Amino acid sequence: MAVKTIKFSIVFLVIVASLGSCYYDKKEDLYISTCNTAGMTYTKDIVNLVNSSCAGCHSGWAPSAGISLGSYAEVKDCVLNGKFIGSVKQDGTASAMPKGGKWSNCDVSKLEAWKAAGCPL
Ligand code: HEC
Repeated sequence: MAVKTIKFSIVFLVIVASLGSCYYDKKEDLYISTCNTAGMTYTKDIVNLVNSSCAGCHSGWAPSAGISLGSYAEVKDCVLNGKFIGSVKQDGTASAMPKGGKWSNCDVSKLEAWKAAGCPL
């Protein structure tokens, strides 16, 4: 009886231990590994992000907060000298943007890679 209990305990522990190996398969980790941030350019990558989630409020004759993001020069300036990155990272250094939403970690990584590369057009 006691031997059976010990055997059962060992089998049980092995099962629990193998289930534990799934712990590191976090969505976040998998996502980052599939996020391609190589060779980001404004024309190919950044303009679509900005147009679809920012330009609606931040362009035209009365852009929100006086911040216009309707052109390459304006976006580049806001990323280099403004609060663009803090606002999309939603890290508390600027108002969280886009209002009512949040960029994926991959999109934020793309923006940071673009900045690190010197904001190529
Ligand atoms: C629905 C309209 C709307 C959208 C979409 C939007 N914004 Fe804003 N944004 C505002 C308004 C209104 C303000 C001024 C009030 C505030 O700071 O919350 C603002 C302020 C800002 C500021 C200044 C923040 C500060 O703390 O001084 C930045 C930078 C900014 N937006 C960037 C962005 C970026 C980048 C996006 C796209 C990812 C975006 N916004 C999307 C309406 C919007």
